[in-house]
Amino acid sequence: MNLRHLIDFNDMTTTDWSMLYNLTCDIMKAPDKYAEVCKGKILATLFYEPSTRTQFSFQAAMHRLGGSVIGFADPNSSSVSKGESLRDTVKIVSGYADIMVMRNPLEGAAYAASLYSPIPIINAGDGGHLHPTQTMTDMFTIFNEKKTYENLNIGLCGDLFNGRTVHSFIKAFSRYKHNKFWLVSTKELKLPGYIHEIIHNTENEITITDTLEECIGELDILYMTRIQRERFKSEEEYKRQAGIYILTKDKMRKAKPDMIVMHPLPKVDEIYCDVDDDPRAIYFHQARNGMYVRMALILMFCEANRERYTDLNAYPLPQNKFCNNARCISNHEVYLPELTNDNSCAYCENKLT
Ligand code: NCD
Repeated sequence: MNLRHLIDFNDMTTTDWSMLYNLTCDIMKAPDKYAEVCKGKILATLFYEPSTRTQFSFQAAMHRLGGSVIGFADPNSSSVSKGESLRDTVKIVSGYADIMVMRNPLEGAAYAASLYSPIPIINAGDGGHLHPTQTMTDMFTIFNEKKTYENLNIGLCGDLFNGRTVHSFIKAFSRYKHNKFWLVSTKELKLPGYIHEIIHNTENEITITDTLEECIGELDILYMTRIQRERFKSEEEYKRQAGIYILTKDKMRKAKPDMIVMHPLPKVDEIYCDVDDDPRAIYFHQARNGMYVRMALILMFCEANRERYTDLNAYPLPQNKFCNNARCISNHEVYLPELTNDNSCAYCENKLT
């Protein structure tokens, strides 16, 4: 596998993904075989935003592979609170560790970090943008349950605007065909244009609706998400959106007997607790799968024979053209080179105007 960093799920080829999928299955079957394969390696976890599953599953994954973990879960306990730039933090930590996992509230942060890192950077969530290792967890779970990534009816419900797990999920599915996506949200929280366009330009179908009732009977997969309170400008705006979609036992009666309910977790009130006991609710199982896929990813990066270099001269200096997304890392870290892809910002993917 020729992957330097994992910023977006689609950084992997479909062959890379099947290799990782198979490795994950093997680790699950015979974990003892892998108990020391990362001995002597160090994983750094830099979490600038709260996390339970992602952070703990990465840490547990590295421990189960025999390696060690350093890092912070609260940037206020690191030199970030003294005003250190992302670039400097990355340069320092990459001198200590072999792999770096980063979660940051700004969109494009992991990509920005990768420009300065001689070691692999794994994006563990960059603001409301992407969350590729959650998508690995989701794709692993879906294949285990459905044995295919095609001809599926998939409902995505909740905060489709801010939900990075949804964005990554849809990008991953854009490589497959003949799926029907039901996008269930209020009009305020609908999918961002750039993600909508990605799926729109593929052989998959999209239906937009604002009620779960309209589609639940059709679905093979229902992917519920939390309204992302921390991404709203004000508490009032959040309150206007909170509690609109709640999956209940009653609604589950209308669903197919083999529909699966997924959720990246944490859940707040969008799934009523009586749904947890329904065998179709597989989110806790999904979360456990996440540890194993992360073991496979870490192992793959530990084994990669890489040249440790970054060529900063390859990047142009910043010019006077800024991304108009205030949540983009390029508007916060002033030294970042201006990088574009097809007139989109290379950090956060928003269209540049
Ligand atoms: C998600 C995240 O952080 O984006 N959680 C996770 O990583 N499992 C979803 C969320 O916070 O709602």
